[in-house]
Amino acid sequence: MHPTQAPYPMTRFRRLRRTPALRALTQETVLSSSDLIWPVFLCDGRAQRQPIASMPGVERLSLDLVVEAAASARDLGIPVICLFPYTDPKLKTADCAEAWNPENLTNRAIRAIKAAVPDIAVMTDVALDPYNAHGHDGLVRDGIILNDETIEALVRMSLAQAEAGADILGPSDMMDGRIGAMRAALEGAGHKDVAILSYAAKYASAFYGPFRDAVGASGALKGDKKTYQMNPANSDEALRLVARDLSEGADMVMVKPGMPYLDICARVKATFGAPTFAYQVSGEYAMIMAAAANGWIDGEKAMVESLMAFKRAGCDGILTYFAPAMAKLLRG
Ligand code: PBG
Repeated sequence: MHPTQAPYPMTRFRRLRRTPALRALTQETVLSSSDLIWPVFLCDGRAQRQPIASMPGVERLSLDLVVEAAASARDLGIPVICLFPYTDPKLKTADCAEAWNPENLTNRAIRAIKAAVPDIAVMTDVALDPYNAHGHDGLVRDGIILNDETIEALVRMSLAQAEAGADILGPSDMMDGRIGAMRAALEGAGHKDVAILSYAAKYASAFYGPFRDAVGASGALKGDKKTYQMNPANSDEALRLVARDLSEGADMVMVKPGMPYLDICARVKATFGAPTFAYQVSGEYAMIMAAAANGWIDGEKAMVESLMAFKRAGCDGILTYFAPAMAKLLRG
């Protein structure tokens, strides 16, 4: 016991848990809708809502509906919406050129959202996996994921997103050196105020499965992502990656997945004090929804508890598919 704490019965911890008022007074961590970033999936067409079987309650939305979703998120106090495109297989090529097409799905969505709902921040995904047939985040030659060539592609992709009006770029690719290259290119092109939220500590995880369904990359992925995403056994390496990305000009950093890596969230925040986010990924969402659908857990309580855990671990916010449901609950 802490030396300043009187022994039982002078100290009874249950005194401050006795009523809701006393529990509220002594609550250490607060979750608010302004802590939430909402990832949404885009599809082409009009008035399209395509359910994703492995993510109950999540749908791919066509641009008209994404604009409506952004407006409702803004009304719920969610400050950021993050866009992930489902790319038409016909547009996937080895050089991933669709990634920097100013008229690609993401760039059209950025412009549509910024025009209709200017006060919500728009975040993007910077990685090549939606744009090639092999499902890897980088360019591939002879089975090798190329680092430096991929960076050039990511820079072109970043500039197109910045040009379209993105507020925050989210490089999720884990190539070495991409933050510095992106930052230099953004400064050079006059996009000095575009923020970078680096997926600094992204693990090679089994929890991304439903996301790959959502963006149409699951069947495609050849092999795994272990040569660029982190080994789940590593922790010091995460700190070195965060240090590197901050030194290259990242404004914010992310740990991904979330719940299995709360120790990493806590270390990153304690070590650097930078704006730190966790991505509660598709598999984490799917597990909670599946258990709740079976009546095995209370889904709403599990949602709240899982999101609160990120704040308690030191995160400034959470990317979560629960964002609208959580924000509605907080609104009461
Ligand atoms: C790929 C990317 C992935 C996710 C976000 N960006 C999957 C992967 O690395 O294979 C996963 C998000 C989730 O599971 O919710 N650039």
